[in-house]
Amino acid sequence: MLAALYSTDGGSPELEVREIPTPSPGPGQVRVRIAISGVNPTDWKTRKGLTGRAGTALGGLQIPNQDGAGTIDAVGSGVSTERLGQRVWLLFAAHGSPYGTAAEYTVLPENRAIPLPDAASFELGASLGVPALTAAYCLATDGAPEGRTVLVSGGAGAVGHAAIELARFERAAKVVATVSGPQKAALATQAGADTVVNYREADAADRIREAVPTGVERFVEVAVAANLELDLAVAAPGAVIVAYAADSTSVAQVPVRQLMAANIALRFMLLYMVPAADLQAAIDRTSAALAAGALSTLPIQRFSLNQAAAAHDAVEQGAVGKVVIDLDQR
Ligand SMILES: NC(=O)c1ccc[n+]([C@@H]2O[C@H](COP(=O)([O-])OP(=O)(O)OC[C@H]3O[C@@H](n4cnc5c(N)ncnc54)[C@H](OP(=O)(O)O)[C@@H]3O)[C@@H](O)[C@H]2O)c1
Repeated sequence: MLAALYSTDGGSPELEVREIPTPSPGPGQVRVRIAISGVNPTDWKTRKGLTGRAGTALGGLQIPNQDGAGTIDAVGSGVSTERLGQRVWLLFAAHGSPYGTAAEYTVLPENRAIPLPDAASFELGASLGVPALTAAYCLATDGAPEGRTVLVSGGAGAVGHAAIELARFERAAKVVATVSGPQKAALATQAGADTVVNYREADAADRIREAVPTGVERFVEVAVAANLELDLAVAAPGAVIVAYAADSTSVAQVPVRQLMAANIALRFMLLYMVPAADLQAAIDRTSAALAAGALSTLPIQRFSLNQAAAAHDAVEQGAVGKVVIDLDQR
């Protein structure tokens, strides 16, 4: 099969595309013919060694990308043959495995291949994994978002987009999104945000308070160090702020008394560390929203497998929209 590969044993982190043997599914595994591979920040960060790296079963080589969608074409022992031919979306393909989704095939445990309804495109399936599960977990860390006011920072990002759509689907009382400009505002509005505010403008806190006079109860926060002051200015007593992103410079100053006086919880999450039961709950809630037609893709930026390196670069440079590798595109 054709695969994009990088070295995990001290060699180059650059991607090269070449033929390698097609893997067979092991016990409890399925093999998936990939239609679309989704690219997320975690994929280039892992490739560049900024996060933990997976195994070296491919002789020190790693196929990147956790997310993807395709069709099951082989099953290992212990897996029902009824799964053959099933359309699926994938999670954690490259987590602890060399077989990420930037290839014609991947093999992974069958519970990481989730049925994809016929009405959902492979592009949508490949957009779910990391972003939608992160959004689902953040939204429900302290009970369901139903009836609560939610603020999604970075509402045009992959996680932000999924968080807005899931919050809407799960009947949040009001969804406010923050963005940096008009193009991203349009995307957040399209996803279903009730109010969209430019966080770079001086009156951002006033605009959020106008929209949610009783305060924000749940924050899905992409930049806690930059936004904590704004978040606390608009938080309701007892609010929960869930921070899911960090860069090398994100060191937050925590105003202890302000958080304490309003009983505010500041939480952090990393999807790879979410307990199995909570991950399954996030998968189930994402699947329910998907089945109801409540999830959509951001505008697609499509690359071929031969352009895998350019796809990673696009995500690293903050591409607006969803970057995917289309395995049918040559
Ligand atoms: N903890 C986890 O398990 C987990 C899971 C998924 C993703 N992540 C991390 O979360 C981050 C976002 O992932 P993603 O896939 O959603 O990336 P993305 O699609 O690039 O979206 C990030 C968004 O955040 C916005 N943003 C940046 N600074 C902001 C600020 N101060 N306030 C509000 N919005 C801001 C960006 O737009 P502007 O710069 O134009 O505002 C952009 O729209 C990445 O660092 C990723 O590694 C972590």
